[in-house]
Amino acid sequence: MPVEPPSAPQLRQQDPAFVRGVFAEIAQRYDRANSLISGGIDARWRRALTRAVVAWQPARLLDLATGSGVLAEQLGRALPETEIVSADFSLPMLRQARDVRQLPRLVLADGTRLPFRDSSFDALTVAFGLRNMSSWPTALAEMRRVLRPGGHLAVLDFSLPGGWLRAPYRLYLHWVLPKLAALATGSRASYEYLAESIEKFPSGNAMCRLLEEAGFRQATAQTLTLGVVTLYLAEVP
Ligand SMILES: C[S@@+](CC[C@H](N)C(=O)[O-])C[C@H]1O[C@@H](n2cnc3c(N)ncnc32)[C@H](O)[C@@H]1O
Repeated sequence: MPVEPPSAPQLRQQDPAFVRGVFAEIAQRYDRANSLISGGIDARWRRALTRAVVAWQPARLLDLATGSGVLAEQLGRALPETEIVSADFSLPMLRQARDVRQLPRLVLADGTRLPFRDSSFDALTVAFGLRNMSSWPTALAEMRRVLRPGGHLAVLDFSLPGGWLRAPYRLYLHWVLPKLAALATGSRASYEYLAESIEKFPSGNAMCRLLEEAGFRQATAQTLTLGVVTLYLAEVP
């Protein structure tokens, strides 16, 4: 399937140069910041994704936007027979995956232009990465292209809770989180973009529609921790 060039980023936090700069700055403190800011719940979110992937028993899996490799490492433990390829467009983050986690098969790659052949993976995972890509439809079309027919996709990302929790959560996102992140990473600016990116990122039915427009079927959304994060699963026809 031909892949169109990525369209211009809609938001600063989708600008590849900005995103690379952010992750280059925080690469060495990323793991610690993650656990501190989420109070360790991020491990539970990745476990929910891992459980879904284990049910698929893929022979070959791509963990896209792998970052420091925290999810790829967990998947590797749960699926010892699976060949896991870990890709990211940030060299400093991939260095963490190599030096801290000794992950094999690391590939420097942009999610909107993947250097893999059509139908080359049985499953693809992307945790907290799609939101920052310059074009969500282009990235999803690329994911579909590299998955084989019948292959599976799991996307994990932030969302906004509904109901009474939405207003206090937004206060937390805009006012508390950047300060916490500044303490954890020494870089407040790097996390100021996070709240806006979460506000703009499609979630629930809107994300399921995007997945189906990209050619996936049976897209489902499962909210975690009162809707702060959503796990999307979909399949290639
Ligand atoms: C928040 S980290 C998530 C890392 C890991 N998946 C996790 O669960 O902790 C986001 C990662 O996405 C990567 N990323 C953002 N845009 C990307 C793109 N267009 N192509 C590949 N990687 C990208 C960043 O470099 C960063 O390492």
